[in-house]
Amino acid sequence: MSRLIVISNRVTPPAPEGAASQGGLAMAISAALREYSGIWFGWSGQSTPEFTGTLNTQTVNGVTVATMDLEDQDIEEYYNGYANRTLWPLFHYRIDLTQYERSFGEGYARVNARFADMLAPLIEPDDLIWVQDYHLIPLGRELRARGLKNAMGFFLHIPWPARELILTLPRHRQLVESLFHYDVVGFHTEEWKNAFLSYVLHDANGMALSDGRATAFGRTVLPKAFPIGIDAQGFAALAAAPEAQESYKRIIESKARRKMLLGVDRLDYSKGIDERLLAFERLLSESPDLLREIFLLQISTYTRSEVEAYQDMIARLDALSGRINGAYAEMDWIPIRNVHRLHARDELAGIYRAADVALVTPLRDGMNLVAKEFIAAQDEADPGVLVLSRFAGAAAQMGDALIVNPFSQEDVADAMRRALSMPIEERRKRWRTLMDGVERDDVMAWRDSFVAALKEAHASGQKRRPARIAAARWDG
Ligand code: G6P
Repeated sequence: MSRLIVISNRVTPPAPEGAASQGGLAMAISAALREYSGIWFGWSGQSTPEFTGTLNTQTVNGVTVATMDLEDQDIEEYYNGYANRTLWPLFHYRIDLTQYERSFGEGYARVNARFADMLAPLIEPDDLIWVQDYHLIPLGRELRARGLKNAMGFFLHIPWPARELILTLPRHRQLVESLFHYDVVGFHTEEWKNAFLSYVLHDANGMALSDGRATAFGRTVLPKAFPIGIDAQGFAALAAAPEAQESYKRIIESKARRKMLLGVDRLDYSKGIDERLLAFERLLSESPDLLREIFLLQISTYTRSEVEAYQDMIARLDALSGRINGAYAEMDWIPIRNVHRLHARDELAGIYRAADVALVTPLRDGMNLVAKEFIAAQDEADPGVLVLSRFAGAAAQMGDALIVNPFSQEDVADAMRRALSMPIEERRKRWRTLMDGVERDDVMAWRDSFVAALKEAHASGQKRRPARIAAARWDG
């Protein structure tokens, strides 16, 4: 079997069973790599004053992880800059927050070239190369320029924006052209894939072929939707582990028979946390009967704190929850528990299980794995209700959740009310359908369908592709 080489910006080595506090995407990748021999390659998360080119390799839980440190300027221009001040806001429809600095583009180009320099010597001819996410779009082109002819796929974990938005990005053509050096480009939904195709057809003089492939820039690629899943069985098992039972018990005791609504997010403006709190405030003001009967536990963990938009977000959220609590709290009841502490995954699984309603209401989100983890953690005899934004990729698969428009406080407040009073039979029925989907379309199915498409696209592409690929560089 070919080795699978997964490359992502952030690499979180799989922690010992149960003790992990990885994010959903990192968990998905480590689960996807299990059962495969291969390497997970990326940035260590550490900085050095100057790039040393040293590779740190370790094998944890059967997964070989190879990481490198980046120098301070790289982190500033590539990670805090082009990735998180330019592409992230732009691809999440926030051109008001998008910063277009040439130095960011240069840092992005430099780090992608560093990744290619470090990675190329590790690659064997039969290896399947799978690049993850917006940090590394030009990596395929960099690897091709170093002579690699391997099967190479790219997966975008965030939305692809409407063409009117991407046109605001200086050198947008160059970014999109980079994607045509892969055999397959994966998206979570048809919607993101179609937005990509719309750019290719209208702005790159490209063509969509009848077999699903697209051609432009003199190359052909297969753009396709592969919705990511979670390790459903693993997560359900986590929910039964002692740490999960402990956090479950703590919540049940502290609920004092009240109903709990739950939000779990990285503290990111795309997650719609402010809007959610405002919808909750509306619920409190319109439903006096619910006062003292419910509360919202909002767990929002710090992320990307070097970037101003994230610092502003923390200040706004704390002020908002403080204001709502000040207005509604009583001596023995607080409507919002605003928590920033990071929780271990097993602890989190217990919290999900103890919740009556989960609020997954991003303004825009590639997929959102919290929605799936919440479903996997439920007690089937008494499952909670999922309220899900129509702008999360997950909504395309999870139609049995209560689907809401997160921009409308009325819509979200109505859904909260409906979820809180939903009869047990309806809860069970909806949960069963959702759980069937979460189990069927799990992370292994995601990996297998992507890898199968990659092998096939590469095999048929090899017959057509010219033998030598001209070196092309992303120059920021
Ligand atoms: C999103 C991105 C991932 C990223 C994660 C955490 O899910 O799609 O690529 O790793 O957020 O963000 P961070 O900046 O901490 O890696």
